[in-house]
Amino acid sequence: MIEMIIRRIVRREILNMHRPQHGGDIWQYDNIEDFSSNINPLGPPAEIKEFVLNAIDKLQYYPDDSATRLKETISNRFDIPTDLITVGSGSVELIRLFSEVFIDRGDKVLIPQPTFEEYAFSSKLMGGRIIRIPLNESENFRINFELLFEKITPSIRAVFICNPNNPTSRVEPKKKILELVEECEREGVLVFLDEALIDLVEGSERLSCLKEVESHENLFVLRSLTKAFAIPGLRVGYGIGSREIIKFMENARLSWNVGQIEQIVAARLIDECYEHIKNAIRVITSEKRRIFGELLAMRKHITAYYPDANFFFVNIAGLGIKSREFKHLMLRYNILVRDCTSFGPPCENYTRFSIKTAKSNTKLVKALRSIITELNSRHR
Ligand SMILES: Cc1ncc(COP(=O)(O)O)c(C=O)c1O
Repeated sequence: MIEMIIRRIVRREILNMHRPQHGGDIWQYDNIEDFSSNINPLGPPAEIKEFVLNAIDKLQYYPDDSATRLKETISNRFDIPTDLITVGSGSVELIRLFSEVFIDRGDKVLIPQPTFEEYAFSSKLMGGRIIRIPLNESENFRINFELLFEKITPSIRAVFICNPNNPTSRVEPKKKILELVEECEREGVLVFLDEALIDLVEGSERLSCLKEVESHENLFVLRSLTKAFAIPGLRVGYGIGSREIIKFMENARLSWNVGQIEQIVAARLIDECYEHIKNAIRVITSEKRRIFGELLAMRKHITAYYPDANFFFVNIAGLGIKSREFKHLMLRYNILVRDCTSFGPPCENYTRFSIKTAKSNTKLVKALRSIITELNSRHR
């Protein structure tokens, strides 16, 4: 009886809602190496323990609701005024907040897909209607900007762009993104640009559109500490946007959304540890080439694309199995990869794994070779 009442009053967007799925779910396995979350291959900086322990003394206080010190640190690093900055409990919180603030029931939202599932999830929670722009293998998973431009009209509320894109590992040129931002500005459309994965890409300063928020009123750029500093267990991300966008997001934000430990540690990481990211990029760049060479040698069975970011997106259809089974086979070698099925068709034929240090990557390549041999004998 009570169940019927609840089903009647729950918001209709939530009635049949499914939670998005993510990599990094190591909790149900023992002794597993995680290739499924795209984080810094070197792990967190060596100083991380000291940073966390130093922050413990402040636990007896509520966090600074305005995250003043953290915003100042971000402001200094990127030379951006503090009132263009908001911080969140992971960058994922800011995807939700942006949707809460700007997307209403019936609003149309453009999303190139496959991509990070949280944009569609948050938009749908608010009653938004998703218009999908397909990213096709035949176009090397690049955004078809011509098609996208055709869809941009004043009837669209927002466009979500993930750059680098998860799961395809594609980076779009800054010039193209800016053309899009300008076209959207003319049509009164917001651009949500997710750069959560950009820090680990060589030349990220050149590729990022972060500074462009100062000259484009419709732009919001999302950044994260999770991937750059390998700290998914601490939830902290930030967003840089035009003054008006940030003002309204700050008005609606959850109180004390970023914990005290997170605020202190994040400020120190941004202040003191950027060298750690540079070191990681060196490892990623050389390992990317090496692993790509290994994957090319398996091209009778799998199709690998040279990644722009720190993770591979690989078509495994030639193995005669789907992504889910592939994940389970890799688990037998204590390796967790991302089953891409939840990204929607055709991703059930793709797997995603991050680039780690040489020893770990070699372990992954060996496991892959063993699986190919095993499947070959199965099909004979
Ligand atoms: C593209 C992208 N954006 C945002 C996030 C959210 O990360 P976090 O909330 O840890 O900052 C992720 C996490 O996987 C991601 O892949």
